[in-house]
Amino acid sequence: MRDQRQVWLNGQLIPWENATVHILSHGFSRGSAIFEVFGIHPLPAGPAAFRLDLHLRRFARTAQLLGMELAQSQEELAQAVAETVRANKMDNGFIKMVAYYGLEAFATLVPGVKLDLSVFAVPASADLGLDLSKPISACISKWRKIHPETVPVAAKAASNYLNGMLARQDALRRGFDVGLMMDTHGFMAEGSIEAFFMAKNGVLLTPPLGRILASVSRQSVLDAARVVGIEAHEKALRPEELLEADEIFTSATPFKVLPVGRIEDRKLDDAPGPVSRGLIQLMDAIVAGRDERFKDWLQPLP
Ligand SMILES: Cc1ncc(COP(=O)(O)O)c(C=O)c1O
Repeated sequence: MRDQRQVWLNGQLIPWENATVHILSHGFSRGSAIFEVFGIHPLPAGPAAFRLDLHLRRFARTAQLLGMELAQSQEELAQAVAETVRANKMDNGFIKMVAYYGLEAFATLVPGVKLDLSVFAVPASADLGLDLSKPISACISKWRKIHPETVPVAAKAASNYLNGMLARQDALRRGFDVGLMMDTHGFMAEGSIEAFFMAKNGVLLTPPLGRILASVSRQSVLDAARVVGIEAHEKALRPEELLEADEIFTSATPFKVLPVGRIEDRKLDDAPGPVSRGLIQLMDAIVAGRDERFKDWLQPLP
C-alpha cells in the first residue's frame, strides 16, 4: 500500500518518500541540521501542541546560537505545524521539525543561504528504543556532556547528538537502558535525549541550565511540581548525590516522568517512589487536558 504520510517542505505538502536531500548537502555532510520535537495531544476541540510557544522559541534560539536564521516567523512555523497535522489526520503523536541547508556544499560555511524547513508528523506509537511500561535502568556514562565552550549545548543541533549516541551505546553495552552524563567539571548533566531529576527527602532536584539542553519537559515538571507544593530546586549535583537519591526519573517530550528502578548497581526498589508517582499522575492529567491550572500548556493549532 502506498505510504499516505505527507511531509511539509518549504511550504508544500509532499509524499513522505520524497523528503530527501543530497548526501553532499551541508545539513547532511557537515551535520548542520537543527531540529525541534514536541507532542500533539487529542483534545475535544481538536489536536493541541504541548507548549508550542516554548518549542518554537527554542527552535529560533537554536538557529540564532549557531548563526543561522529560520526563513519562517513563529506564526508561519505554527501554521506549518497545523498544516502537517491536518494533512496527516494526526491527533496524537509528535511533530519533528528539521531545518537544514539542503544545497550541496563542500565548504565549511554556506553564507547567505536560507535554511530549508521540513515538518514531520510522527505517530505516538513510534519506536523510541525504550520500554516505557516499567522503570528503566540508568548508568553514569563514561562519556561527558560536550562542553558549552566547544559548541552551544542549548542548541538542538543534529551534530550535538553524536555525544548522546555514544552515551546510549555505552549504556546498552553495559546492560543499562540509558546513560546519564556528567559535564566536564564532574557535575551531573543529562542523558542522551532526556533531562533527569532526583528526589531526596521529598525535595526535587535537577541540574541547572547552562550545560544542558533547555528541555521543555524539565521546565514543565519544575513548574508543575512547584504549583502542587513540591519543593523543587535546580542545583549542581555530584554523581555521589545521584547514587544516594531516594528517587530518580528522566524527563523528555515522549515521557514526562519515567522512573529509574536501578542506578548503576543500586536498586531503587519501590520505583516509582511517592514524589515520582505524584508527578506521573499530574503530568498525565496535564497532557490529557484534565488539569485546569495548566490548560494553557496545550495550545490549539492555528
Ligand atoms: C539532550 C536532551 N536533553 C533533554 C531533552 C528533553 O527535551 P524536551 O523536554 O524539550 O523534549 C532532549 C530532547 O530531545 C534532549 O535531546
